[in-house]
Amino acid sequence: MKRYAVFGNPIEHSLSPNIHAQFAEQMGIDISYEKILAPIDEFATTADAFINQGGSGFNITVPFKLDAFKFANQHTAYAKTAGAVNTVKINGSDILGENTDGVGLVRDLTQNLNVDLTNKTILILGAGGATRGVLLPLLEHNPKRLMIANRTTSKAVQLCKDFSKYGNTCGFGLEKVKDAPVDIIINATSASLNNQMPDIANGCANDAICYDLMYGKQSPFMDWAKANSASAISDGLGMLVEQAGASFELWTGKKPNTQAVLQTLRLA
Ligand code: ATR
Repeated sequence: MKRYAVFGNPIEHSLSPNIHAQFAEQMGIDISYEKILAPIDEFATTADAFINQGGSGFNITVPFKLDAFKFANQHTAYAKTAGAVNTVKINGSDILGENTDGVGLVRDLTQNLNVDLTNKTILILGAGGATRGVLLPLLEHNPKRLMIANRTTSKAVQLCKDFSKYGNTCGFGLEKVKDAPVDIIINATSASLNNQMPDIANGCANDAICYDLMYGKQSPFMDWAKANSASAISDGLGMLVEQAGASFELWTGKKPNTQAVLQTLRLA
């Protein structure tokens, strides 16, 4: 039986073991998938120990995605552009680092929420690791314009420069967000952790699809979207299931039915 895991700190509330158990059951294969709490300064030793015990692959969540990037000795294009790794596949001495977060977001938007990204205007709030992780897969769908608005303007400007070769990007401060509607707004800030909403003009939400990368609670961003007439509002649960589906596929070569799993989690 192949062994997989998710590393994080904290990790207790991770839904990944449940999601991967459902995928394995769908596919009729036996895997084990456990939660591993790695001490903050000991990601590499904890991951090494798991590999030495025969681990075939693992997921990585907060705060170890940069450590996992350094730990891998090979990287996919998505991992390279994200500068972060959320999935590792072991093959002998090869430690392949992949990042399925962006693909997870894109699949949730396009396949579960039926949103066509091509030619759309996308506004992303935040310019940290979460934003960097989703930019390339979003730009591969050829949006008309991808805007990054951040509290610290220089970070948004730099991120856009880094990704300008992949599509039409621009970066500015939150105060420059216009009152005019956009098609899709993605909240990739950590403001919700402090129960805050980034300070932006309300009019951009009118008739927009508003997506919060966070899952698990009704966030101030989702409240704001509702109060300002968004056409659809989503949390990041679908992205969580889809990024897990992409990891599972990398490990096993089998494509699970993610929509069925998403349904069971929404009902739970
Ligand atoms: P992550 O890896 O989750 O993206 P991060 O790299 O620390 O975490 O980035 C957090 C993002 O949330 C940043 O864009 C941050 O803005 P700054 O670059 O100006 O710090 C943004 N953020 C956090 N709290 C915020 C708030 N209350 N209002 C607006 N933006 C906020």
